[in-house]
Amino acid sequence: MSGFVRVADVGDLRPGRTRAIEVDGQHLLLCHAGDVICAVADVCTHDRGPLGEGRLRGATIECPRHGARFDVRDGSVVALPAVRPLATYPVRVVDGAVEVELETVP
Ligand code: FES
Repeated sequence: MSGFVRVADVGDLRPGRTRAIEVDGQHLLLCHAGDVICAVADVCTHDRGPLGEGRLRGATIECPRHGARFDVRDGSVVALPAVRPLATYPVRVVDGAVEVELETVP
């Protein structure tokens, strides 16, 4: 599958909250980080912790397992013990719908 896929309505998402979704067998996490909606892989790069159970503060999500933190805008590591960035996915909003492209951002 390629191209953008509708995954939610904007109204389904609340600022500061996340929503786990599955698209084409991939587990993603939509993050409403205030003024931007981001999509990242819903698995921590440290030891596969469930990021969807973590807390989103601003644009930073914290893994509930060992406390690694990531910037959901670009997947970069903000705090150890993770050292590898999260996969991120392009997001767009069209007519109130949130769409995600499954190709990861390099
Ligand atoms: S699994 Fe996420 S910090 Fe260890």
